[in-house]
Amino acid sequence: MRNVIILGSQWGDEGKGKIVDLFSAHFDIVARYQGGNNAGHTIFIGDKKFVLKLIPSGILRPGKKAVIGNGLVIDPAALMGEIDALESSGIDVRANLFVSNRAHVLFPAHRMMEKMSEGRPGRISIGTTARGIGPCYEDKIGRRGVRIADLLDRDAFHAQYDSVMEEKTAIAKLFGIYEELDFRGIRDEYDAFADRIRPMVRDTALLLNRAIEDGQAVMFEGAQGSMLDIDHGTYPFVTSSNATAGGACTGTGVAPTRISGVIGVSKAYVTRVGGGPFPTEALDGAGERIRARGHEFGAVTGRARRCGWFDAPLLRYTAAINGFDSLVVTKLDVLDEFDQIPVCVAYRMGGREVTEMPPTVAAVEKIEPVYECMPGWSSSTFGIDSYDDLPPRAKDYLAFLEQRTGVEAGCISTGPERNQTIVRPGSRLEKLLS
Ligand code: GDP
Ligand code: IMO
Ligand code: MG
Repeated sequence: MRNVIILGSQWGDEGKGKIVDLFSAHFDIVARYQGGNNAGHTIFIGDKKFVLKLIPSGILRPGKKAVIGNGLVIDPAALMGEIDALESSGIDVRANLFVSNRAHVLFPAHRMMEKMSEGRPGRISIGTTARGIGPCYEDKIGRRGVRIADLLDRDAFHAQYDSVMEEKTAIAKLFGIYEELDFRGIRDEYDAFADRIRPMVRDTALLLNRAIEDGQAVMFEGAQGSMLDIDHGTYPFVTSSNATAGGACTGTGVAPTRISGVIGVSKAYVTRVGGGPFPTEALDGAGERIRARGHEFGAVTGRARRCGWFDAPLLRYTAAINGFDSLVVTKLDVLDEFDQIPVCVAYRMGGREVTEMPPTVAAVEKIEPVYECMPGWSSSTFGIDSYDDLPPRAKDYLAFLEQRTGVEAGCISTGPERNQTIVRPGSRLEKLLS
């Protein structure tokens, strides 16, 4: 049994797309388990760049199956746009992509509703991707959501759609966020979408479980990151789904007893897009240097990512809630030119060292990071694909991260492309992939 979860261990954009694409060579199926087109997973293959939002990163490997699990919210226009763009690049999407009949459907009215939380005085603006993700999950939990299976049953869909949209119109008018939407025209578009998606729709929980029984290997791909998880992240500055390892089970219908390991993806530093606390944010010139060297701009919204130093207590926390077997440390090359590299080794609050992640934003904002400085290696690691070839100080840096987080760095990424990667011989990660 080789069924492995790969997910982000920080606030998203850790480089999951590159790593999932690379590791998918070892699996038969790649299944996404949560989120929607708020995700932006960038993959470079030669001189071609792909940004995947809804479709699992495994789709780029010929013959591999890709599953959009029940835990996702699907904007049909985004999905169709993504399929068309990939197919025009020669990728056979429709032969290999399966969409859960239980995934939820996102409508333009969800984007309108997002203005309730993001734009109104007195509400905390999260700095979302404005894709309507939160309101769509609200409808799911509120038990009025439209699922893919509902969409395929035209009469039932029309009745449900009309009633839900009537509610949204009333609320939007009441709160002064109403915008003229052609509800009937949108319904027609969704009918057309239903016809296009129908051949790809499956009970993907059954599909995955049967595949596992037949000895196939499944990789579960998380979107966003552990600190954006609705339960375990920096609430309310989080996304509306479970990005952590448990989400892989609920978001696909595959039981924990079928999972053989969990791999966390972490940058060699930390970034965050949108609002919310970020204890190790570098607000001096160093943050800007990281942003410039790492091209830290959002793949979905183009926003500048906030940048800062590696946060070992945060990683210990996400390692605990996810049970990481191994860590992939990405973007090591971005730190090549720093003389000194601070690493946060402890949190202090009110003069006291804290070992737990505080539950409120107000408390996280009070954290004073305690740093230890590691000497930089002042030479290029870009593209290095063997551990032995890393400069000794880069190895020391990685060893320090391992020691302070308690998790092995089983894989190191030194550039955006597939071959710019080191998988360490003898690591737990290597065993999970074989
Ligand atoms: P994801 O959302 O976790 O898939 O990450 P994003 O694609 O949003 O952001 C990661 C960015 O870093 C992308 O532009 C990748 O091409 C790039 N990237 C990934 N790994 C490396 C690496 O090791 N070095 C460098 N320089 N860039 C990388
Ligand atoms: P990937 O998969 C980084 C952030 C948004 C905002 C918060 C809520 O590429 O790592 P939402 O639109 O989800 O309601 O926004 O979550 N966010 C991400 N940040 N990477 C992502 O995805 C993100 N998806 C959402 O910036 O702070
Ligand atoms: Mg991203």
